[in-house]
Amino acid sequence: MMTEWVLVCAADDIEEEDVIRFDHGDRTFAVYRSPDDEYYATDGLCTHEKIHLADGLVMDNVIECPKHNGRFDYTDGSALGAPVCVNLQTYPVKVEDGLVFISL
Ligand code: FES
Repeated sequence: MMTEWVLVCAADDIEEEDVIRFDHGDRTFAVYRSPDDEYYATDGLCTHEKIHLADGLVMDNVIECPKHNGRFDYTDGSALGAPVCVNLQTYPVKVEDGLVFISL
């Protein structure tokens, strides 16, 4: 399958150690900028209940869901403990010419 790179935003539109919501078609994603200035993307909804993770809190490499404080490592999508037990899907990200793209 051909990789489709989709433009998300300018790299500076995401603060360090923060996350934004990105909707594309009928899908929603969360795009992160880590404290060490790397970019990552995951599915936008918590795997516990369908809550937007972009409303949650980023700490280091962890996103904390705003609803029940479930935590995921957003760099690999792994669920870090109750109440979340299903990993998040992750997506490749690239930054080119100051723009952030994700591969769907
Ligand atoms: S909805 Fe995310 S932890 Fe419950």
